[in-house]
Amino acid sequence: LQVSVWTAGWRWKGTGTRSTHRKEEGTAVAQAVGARLKELKEKEEESVLLEALVPTARLPVSPPRSPAPRLPVALRICTLVCRSWGDRPQLCQVTCGVGRAEAPVRHGAMLPQSLDSSLQQWGVVASEQRQALATRLREAAEATMAALLAAEAELTPQQRGGARAHTDLLGVDFLLACVDDTLELVALSTNSQHCLETCLLVESMGRDIGEPHGDLPRLLAEVMLHRAQCHLVEGKDIVLIGAGGVSKSFVWEAARGYGLKIHLVESDPDHFAAGLVETFLPYDSREHRRDEEHAQRVTELLHSRGVRPHACLSYWDDCVVLAALVCQRLGLPGNPPAAVRVAKQKSRTHQHLQGCQHGHPPPSAFAVPCRRLRSHGDVEQAAGAVPFPAVAKLEFGAGGVGVKLVESRSQCHAHAARLWRDLRDDADHPGIGLGWGNAMLLMEYVPGTEHDVDLVVFRGRLMGAWVSDNGPTRLPAFLETAACLPSCLPPDRQAQLVRAALQCCLACGLQDGVFNVELKLGPAGPRLLEINPRMGGFYLRDWIREVYGPDLLLAAVLVALGVPPILPSRPSPRTHLAGVMCLGSEHGGALGVRDGEGGGGGGMAALVRLHERGLVRLNRLFEETAGAGEYEEPYLSVGCQGATRAEACVRLLGLCQALGIDSPRYPVEYFLSHFK
Ligand SMILES: Nc1ncnc2c1ncn2[C@@H]1O[C@H](COP(=O)(O)OP(=O)(O)O)[C@@H](O)[C@H]1O
Ligand SMILES: [Mg+2]
Repeated sequence: LQVSVWTAGWRWKGTGTRSTHRKEEGTAVAQAVGARLKELKEKEEESVLLEALVPTARLPVSPPRSPAPRLPVALRICTLVCRSWGDRPQLCQVTCGVGRAEAPVRHGAMLPQSLDSSLQQWGVVASEQRQALATRLREAAEATMAALLAAEAELTPQQRGGARAHTDLLGVDFLLACVDDTLELVALSTNSQHCLETCLLVESMGRDIGEPHGDLPRLLAEVMLHRAQCHLVEGKDIVLIGAGGVSKSFVWEAARGYGLKIHLVESDPDHFAAGLVETFLPYDSREHRRDEEHAQRVTELLHSRGVRPHACLSYWDDCVVLAALVCQRLGLPGNPPAAVRVAKQKSRTHQHLQGCQHGHPPPSAFAVPCRRLRSHGDVEQAAGAVPFPAVAKLEFGAGGVGVKLVESRSQCHAHAARLWRDLRDDADHPGIGLGWGNAMLLMEYVPGTEHDVDLVVFRGRLMGAWVSDNGPTRLPAFLETAACLPSCLPPDRQAQLVRAALQCCLACGLQDGVFNVELKLGPAGPRLLEINPRMGGFYLRDWIREVYGPDLLLAAVLVALGVPPILPSRPSPRTHLAGVMCLGSEHGGALGVRDGEGGGGGGMAALVRLHERGLVRLNRLFEETAGAGEYEEPYLSVGCQGATRAEACVRLLGLCQALGIDSPRYPVEYFLSHFK
């Protein structure tokens, strides 16, 4: 019913003249606007605001204990929101100011108090009602910042005030209004300092009475340190060894976003990333038994092209040893090549760990009996040391190709014979380590549930760890079917996995980097399957960013630069993801890969549309079907999210049924049934 007229602009900081009028008083309003307009400075981008005045709610006050008259009071709610991990707005602090209803309640004019006390004082007796209001406030404050960040993203650096100008902290003030007998939150304005000051005052007042620190100092420190680290990596020259396939397409855009100068060493001279990097250095390193020689060549190549890198790293399994060798030659931070070699070769990892007998428990506790198989002659001896059922697989394998459950010596011979016939060198199946030869190993079958632990380690210190769960694999090959993040495991069991993964890495001599450790968790605790001495593959980087916020790629770059990455000290999941893998052989028809995108069943086109609307998470692993028959790899990961794991699984199952991903031969419901 009332309107207010005031001047806005940075010069005023909310202190400009303000007048209030009844809505009907058109002439008075016009006069006030005219008067304010004359005060404006043209160059300062100032304006006159004509706003509806939202009346504060007059709440039913609780029966007065004293007969003294009650004054009508107004409540101003002050919130502070930060740009948290993954550019997501997160509410840091809420506090209230209570004042006389007839004048606006200003920041800094009174000592702040909590929302809960204020509402109680106002007569909101039911605690559920207060809780519901607090939840709505969180949503509203975070949505306000999201809207502002979205608008800011559209601006040019010049409009924003500079290439590095970002809003990382935002104060949002709210008023409680009463609409049709219900309390409504109304956002009044945003600010950059008032709410921060008030919220910091609340923190220090808590200290006065011995309250523990709230989340505010930690969240603010993380925001600022993360921003500082983004500035640190900007413009750095990074040598990347191995571009990887479509599954790593995110790298090029992310690198551009961080302002990295990528100098890419890649075996495929026609790689699609050639035009997306600062320097493209085609160099054929596919024969990895000659990595020492390659390392020398690569350093010469870098030298001749005038590249003087600040860091060198690889996220591509085949290239991790070469990257370590190049780091060593250039004197850059990295792991000792010997450590990476131990981790890269599966039987050596386990045999090395068997010998690590110190510690409580010693790393040997996580190792599993296994033997190398270089020829059929080795099978007999291996079978004497490894009980059946066992797993026969490639020493340097990746992507689960060639892994098989064998029940007897003869099955082991048969599998080895087929594998040695079909998979001889890299050209037979690129990207699964055949550049190191096709030696195999026989390993004891480990029972239990399967998990990935993605670790960030800096100079031997654990900086961050994330545990995800895998559903049942498809036997007798071990194709991954389903996964979820966060893990279903209780914290103590996750902690066992993280500690085991870290101990295994350290015992192998891996001290610096982002590692992906695969383990199984059985009744007797965690057992190691393998260490991937690189960033987790498939959907892992995407999912961890979505659920927890931090970026494994940035962490890997920071560690490679010799900088300890700042990560959430108290990671908390924002959502739940569940996903399934799709196979060309099973789903090519339904999803229309065989006929190209959008052809065939048209499922793929539908998925892409849903992905663009943020309703599913697609992670392409290959352009199309990868490998054939028993050597097939999944080509696509389809994920759904939900507020709970159950919700994510229900959505995913529905989607899989609708698109024909689910079938009697590919029972998605069964795959997801492990995530309880
Ligand atoms: N010893 C084992 N016991 C049980 N399952 C195993 C064993 N080794 C491998 N697997 C299964 O096979 C999958 C692939 O094996 P892994 O060694 O991780 O090869 P890759 O490097 O190809 O991923 C694992 O994720 C797991 O499901
Ligand atoms: Mg694996």
